[in-house]
Amino acid sequence: MQFRMLIVGAAALLLAACRSGEAPPAAEAAMVAPILSGADAVDIHSFAKPLEARVTHVALDLNVDFAAKRVGGTATLDLQARPGVNSIVLDDKGLEIAAITSADGKPLPYTVGAVDPILGAPLTIEMGAAKKIVIRYKSAPDSGALQWLSPEQTAGKKHPYLLSQGQAIENRSWIPTQDSPGVRQTWEAKIRVPAALTAVMSAPKAGEPLTEGETRVFSYKMGKPVAPYLIAIAVGDLAFRELGPRTGVWTEPALLDKAAAELADTEKMVAAAEKLYGPYQWGRYDLLVLPPSFPFGGMENPTLTFLTPTFIAGDKSNNSLVAHELAHSWSGNLATNATWSDFWLNEGMTTYATTRIVEAVFGPKVAAQQIALGHDAMNAAVTENGGPSGPDTRLHIDLKGRSPDDGLTDIAYEKGAAFLRTIEVAVGRERFDAWLKGWFSRHMFEPVTTSIFLADIRDNLIKGDSALETKLALDQWVNQPGIPANLAPADPQAFAEVDGAVTAFKNGAQPSPEVWKRWTTDEKLRFLTRLDKKQPTARLASLDRAYGLANAGNNEVRFAFLTLAVAARYDPAIPALEQFLLMQGRRKFVRPLITALAGDATWGRPIATRVYARARPLYHPVTIRDLDKLGLGGAVSGQPLTAK
Ligand code: BES
Ligand code: ZN
Repeated sequence: MQFRMLIVGAAALLLAACRSGEAPPAAEAAMVAPILSGADAVDIHSFAKPLEARVTHVALDLNVDFAAKRVGGTATLDLQARPGVNSIVLDDKGLEIAAITSADGKPLPYTVGAVDPILGAPLTIEMGAAKKIVIRYKSAPDSGALQWLSPEQTAGKKHPYLLSQGQAIENRSWIPTQDSPGVRQTWEAKIRVPAALTAVMSAPKAGEPLTEGETRVFSYKMGKPVAPYLIAIAVGDLAFRELGPRTGVWTEPALLDKAAAELADTEKMVAAAEKLYGPYQWGRYDLLVLPPSFPFGGMENPTLTFLTPTFIAGDKSNNSLVAHELAHSWSGNLATNATWSDFWLNEGMTTYATTRIVEAVFGPKVAAQQIALGHDAMNAAVTENGGPSGPDTRLHIDLKGRSPDDGLTDIAYEKGAAFLRTIEVAVGRERFDAWLKGWFSRHMFEPVTTSIFLADIRDNLIKGDSALETKLALDQWVNQPGIPANLAPADPQAFAEVDGAVTAFKNGAQPSPEVWKRWTTDEKLRFLTRLDKKQPTARLASLDRAYGLANAGNNEVRFAFLTLAVAARYDPAIPALEQFLLMQGRRKFVRPLITALAGDATWGRPIATRVYARARPLYHPVTIRDLDKLGLGGAVSGQPLTAK
């Protein structure tokens, strides 16, 4: 297949200059990433028409108002348009716009179109010949990206906290721009916060913070073009500690020691990733350990991975999460899914690369076990998504009329990773590694589609070898449902001992506490997730008594046990379950547990209703949005997001 890239305006020259490593023509001129043309590169989750007119740079000047739960100020956008095009369309979700002007202050007419409940609304601006526009605006208090925490919801209990989560299409609720991963933009920000607080963002800092009376002003500047979902902010009482020469951790002072200890292997992981995939392109790799309401395990915000504090286990046992977010520095942040139907390119490649980094740092046995756990998760996802013929078990998924969140399943992560591993095994590691490293350098700072992936692998790996082409079954993997027969199997011996214990458990035996203690977290997880879903309560009681599972220190293990407890209506675990749902808001943990409870009309639903009423105010908007669909009540206003 042939792909044409349309490069708007003078971008072609600049792009060529950036790629050849020469200085751009003017000192301030940044790299401008191309916009893909072609039907499969059209982002149905954005109103933007970037082939007509596009944003190349965003400059934010924002005040963070904790009392009003709003960020507000100006966004100054640099634009490029095709000759004769006089208007530009941005994405807007609930922004309160006061005025839009050209750089010299001339008011520009604009309209906000009809609101779509998933996408928000198109914001169309008549910019005429203006190459720069200034939008004066505020985010709404119910912005879907921002979570405003009261002091009680933080570790220190003294200061409020703000955190953002942009992926997939939430950043349009606080940044007026073209919120599409195919429209890469450079950006900079000046953030004004109460003087006691620190603002961190997903970009290198541009100078030291300035104190202006009661306010501190922080400056950040991302000179590399990024997908707009990767712009992120957090504001709170934050402290920093170095982990290595270019790595460090930010978190609330109370958590700093624990977080730094848990993350001690970070620098090693960066080195391992670079060895596999080429130089790290983002300067520093810092991590921010957030308060427990952060809705994800991790988020790969460039230069500053966001992490849930629930990954802290005291023994670094959840560190593949760091390897995963780090791997996104190549798969996702350098070569970025052009549309949310190509999400598997972000997450499947990252999941594949994660095990490679884990193998390099923690050894082949740990990696083989994580691959085996991945296969279990992949098979479960096939079942949950309609079985082997379910349309949503395709890697390139159809999201027409749906939220990008519908594609956030282990099909993208684990079927995607299994696909890449199948290719690796078929062609041999050396050849595959060279291809994957080449993929990142060929598509650095570019959006990529599934068809670009197929074309690239044909051009650079298969190279006309028709026997290999047949063997790989590429089209079947990406466009057909289910798991193709050529799947490279996981090592059946990876969990030999644990699998033996699972069989023995079915026959009434139970691993001794010494054995349980010796097992790694992955081994414990294999055991718990391989047990029959509906256990007699007496058997759960026996497990819980022997190993303290309802209150396990490792949250992944605790979650796996609480999942069994809900399925078995195991009452003694309910206090621990309630505590778990109230102490953290990681969507991967709270959504399945509350959903399972809510689906059990007589036993579980009253528990779900009671807990959700208390837990809801602690959760991030993206978690609340999902859980409100269960009809448990608790929606304070009962209103959907309002857009102006
Ligand atoms: N980028 C994702 C999180 C995400 C995906 C947020 C889509 C919103 C929309 C992140 O890298 C991720 O995959 N996190 C996982 C980590 C895990 C797979 C190790 C998570 O949060 O559980
Ligand atoms: Zn990821």
